[in-house]
Amino acid sequence: MTGERMIAAKLIHWYDRHRRDLPWRAEPGEVPDPYRVWLSEVMLQQTTVATVRPRFAAWVARWPTFASLAAADEADVMAQWAGLGYYARARNLLAAARVIAAEYEGELPDSEAVLRTLPGFGDYTAAAVAAIAFGRRAVVVDANVERVVARLFALSGKPAIRAATDTITPHTRAGDFAQGMMDLGSAICTPRRPQCLLCPLSDECAALALGTPAAFPVRKAKAVRPQRYGTLFWLTRGDDVLLVRRPDRGLLGGMRALPTGPWTDAPPGLADAPAAADWRLVDAKITHGFTHFTLDLALAVAADHQVGEVDGEWWPVRAIDAAGLPTVFLKAAREMERAG
Ligand code: ADE
Repeated sequence: MTGERMIAAKLIHWYDRHRRDLPWRAEPGEVPDPYRVWLSEVMLQQTTVATVRPRFAAWVARWPTFASLAAADEADVMAQWAGLGYYARARNLLAAARVIAAEYEGELPDSEAVLRTLPGFGDYTAAAVAAIAFGRRAVVVDANVERVVARLFALSGKPAIRAATDTITPHTRAGDFAQGMMDLGSAICTPRRPQCLLCPLSDECAALALGTPAAFPVRKAKAVRPQRYGTLFWLTRGDDVLLVRRPDRGLLGGMRALPTGPWTDAPPGLADAPAAADWRLVDAKITHGFTHFTLDLALAVAADHQVGEVDGEWWPVRAIDAAGLPTVFLKAAREMERAG
């Protein structure tokens, strides 16, 4: 057996014994449900399995099929997604479900190339769904796979890692192979202290032979995230607080939100309040890390006695968790509850 085939054979053997039981995975011998596979892969991008488990369950209870999701309201879909980040993903989920319902009779196409034409399907999602849902041979590289392969071959850099993953991807059980690599990366071939004594691929691992498995992949120094500032306006009327909808384009586009002015390079103070009122800055701020910058928000409060019509909706403060707010605004709401 070649080294490449040996790696796949050992990994799949290990997977058959140690695979994680996950709600979107088919049991051995069962046919996977492409809808669940697709949804889980989209949810798992940038989000941990622990976070996704309950969110996945709630989602499939509400929309169990492509057809049911295709018929959903966009606002409901966005709110159900809240807290999972990258809201363009939720919009693409809905757009893809509608294409699948309208053009593919509610069935996900089974070829990687066709999948890639659907909204929200990039290289990773198309490959992962083709392999996991349909058993097609596809080269699936996520962060865990990247780390495992970098160590196996003692190399770094995405193109080289991808090419090496291609050489070890088997023609049969490509989905189990991909998920086995992910499980191995998450349980054993971990970023800091890989447990090489437990690894089924230790005899094949070039980085272990060099004695420095954790040194791979070599990471580029992280760029410092720029800092931005804003003010969040907590305007109450009785037991309600003012919520707005963010513009469709841009970060958190179309999401329900607490009003803020623009996010800029310097603290903006009380400029850009949503209404004239007796604004007072609270002695607290919240910090939230987005992918490309860190945001510091000052918090301003006012009780709306005299102002007239304002744009937005009045939402009961005690039901704020049901508003489908992105995490940054939920953090602010918690801080306001604490500040009283
Ligand atoms: N991360 C992303 N997709 C996964 C999967 N199918 N199994 C385990 N971890 C994953």
